[in-house]
Amino acid sequence: MTRLWLEFTDPDLLGRASAAHVGRIVRRILDQAPVFRLALSGGSSPLGMFRHLTEPAIFPSELWSRTQVFFADERLVPPNHADSNFASASHHLLDRVPIPSRNIHRMPGELPPEDAALTYTRDLARSFGENGVPVFDLIVLGMGADGHTASLFPGAELPGGRHLVVAPVSAPSMPPRLPRLTLTPAVLDAARRILFVILGADKHAALRAIRDMASDVPAAKVDARSQSWYICPPLGAGQQPTEQPD
Ligand code: 6PG
Repeated sequence: MTRLWLEFTDPDLLGRASAAHVGRIVRRILDQAPVFRLALSGGSSPLGMFRHLTEPAIFPSELWSRTQVFFADERLVPPNHADSNFASASHHLLDRVPIPSRNIHRMPGELPPEDAALTYTRDLARSFGENGVPVFDLIVLGMGADGHTASLFPGAELPGGRHLVVAPVSAPSMPPRLPRLTLTPAVLDAARRILFVILGADKHAALRAIRDMASDVPAAKVDARSQSWYICPPLGAGQQPTEQPD
């Protein structure tokens, strides 16, 4: 696994730099392949990146038609609900770029949990094939102060193995206290690239432990082969993790 660790003093610089990173990845992928498959997370940290991704110089307009957008997790609410990750990504990004609506794969938060998990599993199978775990080109993840990522919370056991790729999650103890749907660790680990976008000094304790390889929170356990951590504000003192060769 390689881990790139970048710390920023200015949230907008982080948003621009992380969006530029996505732009480099999509150009490289679509030079070699017909489609770029991306999963987005909710929360506030990625919003700056989303806004910069609307800039054609960062994400060329003509590449949206070959980009398939999925979600790493979703609150089990209707798509027009204030807490919907789909609504947030649409407002800050998807409504502002020329992506065909058929390329946007919303998690059906309006359905009962098990139905939502089955429906999204089928959607993923249509895009990635029926066999095995979907392999995303890139998954954008955030992290909470407790080290959760997507809707994988510390100590919260996912339902049994019957959910290989998408699992319903009961409402966490932190706001928004809503039941969720999440990609499972198997999908996060299979991704070709993970890009963490983490804003807030309240996350520094968890980040220090992760930096020092002394943490087993869900964000620390993501085992994807290539990870880039975009962090603001800087952690300050302490050894920057080096890139570990595969
Ligand atoms: C969600 C997100 C969640 C988020 C973290 C960090 O649905 O809420 O997917 O995992 O990334 O809670 O949220 P902030 O970026 O708002 O701190």
